[in-house]
Amino acid sequence: MTEVWTIQRLLLWTSDFFERRGIDSPRLTAELLLAHALGMERVRLYIEFDRPLEESERARFRDLVRRRAAGEPTYYLTGRRSFFGRVFQVDERVLVPRPETEHLVDAALVLLGDRDDERRVLDLCAGSGCVGLTILAEHPNACLCATDLSPDALDVARDNARALGLTERVEFLQGDLFGPVAGRRFDLVASNPPYVPRGEIANLAPEVRREPAMALDGGEDGLDLIRTIVAGAPEFLEPGGAICLEIGEGQGAALLEMLRAAGFTGTKIERDLAGLERVAVGRLPE
Ligand SMILES: C[S@@+](CC[C@H](N)C(=O)[O-])C[C@H]1O[C@@H](n2cnc3c(N)ncnc32)[C@H](O)[C@@H]1O
Repeated sequence: MTEVWTIQRLLLWTSDFFERRGIDSPRLTAELLLAHALGMERVRLYIEFDRPLEESERARFRDLVRRRAAGEPTYYLTGRRSFFGRVFQVDERVLVPRPETEHLVDAALVLLGDRDDERRVLDLCAGSGCVGLTILAEHPNACLCATDLSPDALDVARDNARALGLTERVEFLQGDLFGPVAGRRFDLVASNPPYVPRGEIANLAPEVRREPAMALDGGEDGLDLIRTIVAGAPEFLEPGGAICLEIGEGQGAALLEMLRAAGFTGTKIERDLAGLERVAVGRLPE
């Protein structure tokens, strides 16, 4: 008798297949793709573990498994990624929000504090909008200006603002770094800019290399954009205004030097859960 393809059996087979193909987090990937193919939340797979699947459902799933094995990023296939407890729409126009970027949001919220006057936030290199929009959602007195060089990325960020019901407090501007906000001042500059050294991009996992090159390439030492942001930020910040930037491991010492040279005080580098240098912060004198 042929065995029935239940959710449980399909998950076992697929995680084994992904493992043999060297796919990251094989079980989680199988669950995310199957839940997406069935149009259900992942937890529901466990509630319906013994449910046999129809041929049309299996065909949808097979297509996703094939594309994942061929290198398409999991979250482009599902079109959504959780970040700081909210779901963001993602596709090949934007970098997939990373869990470690939640540290940047944590740092931004600490820097903003709980003052009840309006706090103007500039998210440079906004991509999907996950950083700036999360700050908005978490801070009732924040208003956001989100900029990106890529008009396509800003379209995704706009869709995310709409889906999260945040459009009233956000403005999207396309252009190079501070270009679109000439003459304006903010209370906080938050940014997760491209910071991968150009020579390391070829060694990144294949699915990461499917993400927009413009979201990754930080020039020869990875610090091209960061240098411009740190040096330029004081002109766009109020006295007492703050900056927080996501950085990569090994970039902390250079950041501390840049921040001090630009006049920031209280500078520090925060590490992520893996113990890696992840966020650089500083504040201008009042
Ligand atoms: C690392 S991604 C970060 C996206 C999002 N903030 C996040 O944390 O997931 C960097 C973003 O910077 C944008 N970018 C690259 N060069 C830029 C520039 N010169 N000016 C403005 N944005 C730029 C890219 O289009 C990309 O969306």
